[in-house]
Amino acid sequence: MTAPFRTPIVAGNWKMNLDHAKGVALAAAVAGRRADAAGVELVLCPPSVYLVPVVAATNAAGGDVAVGAQNAHDKESGAYTGELSPQMLTDVGCRYVILGHSERRTLFGETDAAVNAKAKAALAAGLTPIVCVGETLEEREAGRTDAVVTAQIQGSLAGLGPDGLARTVIAYEPVWAIGTGRVATPEQAQEVHALIRSLLPALSSAEVAAKVRIQYGGSVKPDNAAHLAACPDIDGALVGGASLKADDFLAIAAAFSTGGCC
Ligand code: 13P
Repeated sequence: MTAPFRTPIVAGNWKMNLDHAKGVALAAAVAGRRADAAGVELVLCPPSVYLVPVVAATNAAGGDVAVGAQNAHDKESGAYTGELSPQMLTDVGCRYVILGHSERRTLFGETDAAVNAKAKAALAAGLTPIVCVGETLEEREAGRTDAVVTAQIQGSLAGLGPDGLARTVIAYEPVWAIGTGRVATPEQAQEVHALIRSLLPALSSAEVAAKVRIQYGGSVKPDNAAHLAACPDIDGALVGGASLKADDFLAIAAAFSTGGCC
């Protein structure tokens, strides 16, 4: 169970799914039943073209559900065709941004250095970055999980400083568990979460390291969330497929609200 001084955070990464009407309806449904997950921070991350109406829908229901983007550029403005700056995201009411998702790393070539620049820019703009790390199946089977995740954490979070790191959320998403239905066991997930937390004092301080929220992502569903939520270093979930249904997303969040079970 998440330490009492860390508020659990459950975010829905809608990826490139839904349309305007369905996105707004989903946001309204989640925000309207927000009380199902009392004490858990909820974040919805729609495709960027739907950020504005999703912010409006959550605000209409009280504004207690935050909205995040799925990516951002590291510059404030300029000749970067097709990109969105962190300042533009805050301007329309976003509070979070997912950075370095494995799909961005593998499909769009994002490196740890690029993720690091984006994280710094997001923090400077007042956004909370959700920085993703995770190993592939090949890397896990070769016994390289710890080395891969360590390099990603050290590279992606370098130089954020204690204040920046304290405001950052980390998502551990083993690539082999994303969209596959093959969830990491609570033991596998907890082991990597503990490794990640052990790396944070060197990037900040022991006090900050104890406060940083670390989400698990990869095939999180209502029927496996409680076991993950029961792990001491798992402070929430970054949910893909199951975040597209209000019932499923809220059931997952509710598991973190009650602290899960074994
Ligand atoms: P799934 O929950 O669909 O496996 O996706 C996880 C993910 O990539 C969230 O960012």
